Order: sequence, then structure tokens, then C-alpha cells
Amino acid sequence: METVVSGIRSTGNLHLGNYFGALRNFIKMQQNNRCFFFIADYHSLTTHPDPSVLHDNVRSILTQYLAAGLDPEQSTIYVQSDVPEVAELYLLLNMQAYIGELGKTASFKDKARKNPDNVNAGLLTYPVLMAADILLHKADKVPVGKDQEQHLEMTRLYARRFNNRYGIEFFPESQPYNFGSELIKVPGLDGSGKMGKSEGNGIYLTDEDSVIRKKVMKAVTDSGPTEPNSPMCDGVKNIFTLMDIVSQPDTVQYFKDKYNDCSIRYGDLKKQLAEDIISAVAPIRQRIAEISGDEHYLQLVTRRGAEQARESAVKTVAEVRQIMGIKSF
Ligand code: TRP
Repeated sequence: METVVSGIRSTGNLHLGNYFGALRNFIKMQQNNRCFFFIADYHSLTTHPDPSVLHDNVRSILTQYLAAGLDPEQSTIYVQSDVPEVAELYLLLNMQAYIGELGKTASFKDKARKNPDNVNAGLLTYPVLMAADILLHKADKVPVGKDQEQHLEMTRLYARRFNNRYGIEFFPESQPYNFGSELIKVPGLDGSGKMGKSEGNGIYLTDEDSVIRKKVMKAVTDSGPTEPNSPMCDGVKNIFTLMDIVSQPDTVQYFKDKYNDCSIRYGDLKKQLAEDIISAVAPIRQRIAEISGDEHYLQLVTRRGAEQARESAVKTVAEVRQIMGIKSF
């Protein structure tokens, strides 16, 4: 069985793009791998979040992942800052990370350009902290999006450097977890290619039914097909792509036929899509409401998660200290 490590950003609500794009794959991935999922709250400190909201963000994102199907019976689910070994490994790995390389990282340059007043060392060494998360459990695989690929490359670089310097095959060279053809790209309903937080076009797992209906009814379309089998505009294509994800195949076919013989009414199409999105979202929203009020459950999950994570973390850090020559009197 392979070990998989995945860090989860501690801010923002989950939208359909996150759910169908990544989360549903995580739910499958946890069934046949040794998975570690953690909320990356240390990483979020680079932007100096208000201390009064930090914990609520962690709670809310953890709740949403649990509600959507991350299973603490199958995986180790923890909060990064509950595992102090990550900070120690981060310190030790910093010795393998050169400032020149860190300064050239795409994410660093991007953030430094956008926030020139807050170019802190935590931001510079963000990839080292991420390497510590991954190498703490000696991960074989890491599910990463495009924006995190370079960080994973740097993780391999530090692992290799460590191994070479100390002449030992200790850290693995963690590879991207490949979801292959299962990876779904969820479009936005504003005619754009992608649903995303920064795009401002998200339908969230916490959205009420009425909010979902309103968002879907506003979806961008055109004035309708005038000739049989005419090509679809991007907006209409996106509606059908979403339908492919949430609706029954015969429902999709019904509306495709209607489009092709020019008898489609976009209002009906949208109403159907809205109801099918609601069927997918409502049970998760219900679970979010249940879990978020269940302090005891959240405590149980995070305590047990931290305990399990620390089993491998303590072992790894002890071995690294020993390899580097750190001994106690
Ligand atoms: N940097 C990742 C992101 O922004 C989150 C993350 C932190 C992570 N540590 C990780 C992802 C370790 C995978 C493995 O999405």
C-alpha cells in the first residue's frame, strides 16, 4: 500500500469545482492507500490571518471535508499545527534549501509581486514547510494541482540532497498522485472555463437551495439554436458539462435532443440543472450543519488524527536527527 500525503488550504469554502474536481477523488483514493490529510494552518500564517478567525477557518474547512466524505476511519486526518514534529523537520530541511532557488519559485515571485509589503521568510520557505509535511510521512505520492507541481519538485530536490549528503537512501522522491482520466474540470456558469473562488462564480457546498437556484438561473446562455444541430456557445456548453456531472444520463440526453431540434427552453434546462445540483449538495450541507455543531466529534477526530500522524512523525524526526548527528547527553 502506498503512502499519500495531502495538505488542505485552511481558508475558503468548498465549491462544486473542489468537490467534483478533487474531493471525490480523495474519497476513492483513501480506500486503497495509506492517506494522511491535514489542514495546513501553519502555511496560512504567511498572510497574517486575524487570530480570532484562524481557528474558525480550520474548523470550517475540516467540517466540510468530513461532511463531503473524508473518512477518519480510513485515513489519518489532522491539523498541521497539532503535530510539532513538522516544525522541527522544517528547520532541519531548511539546511538543504538554497535561498537562490527559493527566491526563484513561481509562487513566491507571484506573491511577492502582489504583496510587496509582506515578503516574509515564511513565504520564502513555504516550499520547505510543504516538503516537511510530505517527508514527515515519507510519502510515495502527493495529489497536486498544476500550481503545486513546482513545490513537489522542490520536495524531491531536498530529499535527494539529504540522501546524497548523508549517503543514505532515507527519504523517498515523492511523486504526483495521478488521477488520470478521472480528473474532472468543473466549469463556471458565467461562460468562463473554470469554477473557482477567485473567479467569483462558485456554487458552494454550504449554499442553500434557494441560493443554488438563483445562481443557476443566472447562467450565461445565448438566444437559442436556430438551426438543427448548431454548435453550442460556451455558456450552454458549460451547462451541459455540469449536467453531465450531476444529472442522470437520460436527462442530459433529453435536453441535448431538445437543443438539437431547436425546441429547447433554457429556463427548463436551468431548472433541471439546479434541482440536480441541489440533490448532490443538500445532503452534504446537512452533514456540515450536523458536524459543525458537534464539538465532541471534531475533538475526537483531530486528537486521534494527531496521535496517528505523530506516530510516523516522531519516528521520522528521530531518524533524521540521528542521521544528521544530533545526539543527547
Ligand atoms: N501548498 C498546498 C496548497 O496551497 C497545501 C499544502 C501544504 C500541501 N502542505 C502540503 C499539499 C503537502 C500537499 C502536500 O494547496
